[in-house]
Amino acid sequence: MDDLFKKLIAHAKEYGFIFPSSEIYDGLSAVYDYGPNGVELKNNIRKYWWDSMVLLHDNIVGLDSAIFMHPQIWKASGHVDAFNDPLIDNKVSKKRYRADVLVEEYLEKIEQKITKEVQKASKRFGDDFDEKQFRETNPRVLANQKKKDEIHKRFVASLESNDLKDLKQIILDCEIADPVSGSREWTDVRRFNLMFETRLGSVSDDANSIYLRPETAQGIFVNFLNVQKSGRMKLPFGIAQTGKAFRNEIVARQFIFRMREFEQMEMQFFVKPGEDMKWFEYWKEKRMKWHQSLVPDSKKLRYHKHDKLAHYANAATDIEFQFPIGFKEVEGIHSRTDFDLAQHQIFSGKKLQYYDVESQESYIPYVIETSIGLDRTFLLILSNAYSEEKAPNAEGKLEDRLVLKIPPALAPVKIAIFPLVKKDGLPDKAMEILTDLQFDFNCQYDEKDSIGRRYRRQDAIGTPYCITIDHETMKDNTVTVRERDSMKQDRVVISELYNFFSGKLSMRKLFENL
Ligand code: GAP
Repeated sequence: MDDLFKKLIAHAKEYGFIFPSSEIYDGLSAVYDYGPNGVELKNNIRKYWWDSMVLLHDNIVGLDSAIFMHPQIWKASGHVDAFNDPLIDNKVSKKRYRADVLVEEYLEKIEQKITKEVQKASKRFGDDFDEKQFRETNPRVLANQKKKDEIHKRFVASLESNDLKDLKQIILDCEIADPVSGSREWTDVRRFNLMFETRLGSVSDDANSIYLRPETAQGIFVNFLNVQKSGRMKLPFGIAQTGKAFRNEIVARQFIFRMREFEQMEMQFFVKPGEDMKWFEYWKEKRMKWHQSLVPDSKKLRYHKHDKLAHYANAATDIEFQFPIGFKEVEGIHSRTDFDLAQHQIFSGKKLQYYDVESQESYIPYVIETSIGLDRTFLLILSNAYSEEKAPNAEGKLEDRLVLKIPPALAPVKIAIFPLVKKDGLPDKAMEILTDLQFDFNCQYDEKDSIGRRYRRQDAIGTPYCITIDHETMKDNTVTVRERDSMKQDRVVISELYNFFSGKLSMRKLFENL
């Protein structure tokens, strides 16, 4: 595992963001709990997503459907038959992998080799460098590109035809080794359904068997008409929902990137048939902007077009972020056609159609879905925020500073309030300021240790502003406000503090970039 990734995991635990679940019982694989700072950050991300969907679009409304649903829903949606991953075991390490991920990672390595060649040449030739010509003529780049294209073509064909034998053969032919043991002794590839099954009520027979939902989307589809009719919604319109989803993941070794219990933030956008591709492009762009508002370095974000479409989609793109473990999916944008509504119409025997007043016809709408993992977005923000730097201490000497540069509107604690010393009425004055500001901002009071140490503690959890109350305060009602990233200090009148912070800490700043 990447060094930075290990540091992130340790930091998240030490500072109350994320704990392994059931830790005193040695943990539960791929299940995590969010601590006091974690839950604040998670709530803020959820609110930012929710408001950017529901608040800022008058044709998107919310829903909170139950986790338990009628088992026929998962038959209709195709999850009972098709929601499975190809798994493979290494005979030496006994570790289990997703066969498709092993091949994808191999392809990514070839791509990295090509990128390195291009970067080297670009440095060598400087301004005269013609990348297109280089890619078309350099023998090493050409050989690697050919190899990648051939494997990729075969890989897609094997997935599409569900040819598990060939999928294994690709792993053998590419000499892909187990990253743990280095061994190339693999079992056959098998299919594994990812849904968790449980029982409803006290009678243990098959009829009462239900599933923990593997996506929140189906709760939206089965409520499509309820929402449309009760809200008199006209196409195009969207239904947004956040909530827990459950998958019995085969490979779950990447902290909160791949969990067995996680949270999704999904929006299904219902459109007139034939307008689906237009809206697919629209939501692709819109969602990328949302990510860019959180990650200003645009090189860390990219689209990834799906090689193999899910059983319900006619187009799909992921938005990937450059995590410390490489570029990985944070959000999926799918064009789901009328697959889900049509299937539910067949399985339930109930009409799920929309009456179009303009064309005076009834039809099943098409759907564009935006589906983002809340936990993955949390990891994106943490990874992007984590920064180790040097900063001057009180004596002006440089020392290490670890700071989480979380977008201020999302930070768990917005303002920390410190009395310079624990006497002369400064703590009382600090408490007075706290009790006023806490109506509007999440504030924290701290009077222990030197101011420098208190700053470091707040930097480590990403608090954007610290206020210090000193002896001057008692004379002129001003305080020192220190900003996290620049460490710049301003003197602000107490009665002006709300105005000073409100613009800087509000989500409006993020919304304006959407
Ligand atoms: N309704 C469509 C759907 O569920 P998906 O690509 O399987 O599509 C959507 O999942 C998002 O949910 C992913 O982009 C990812 O952010 C998140 N996600 C999926 N599986 C996850 C897991 N095991 N742990 C954490 N997040 C996960």
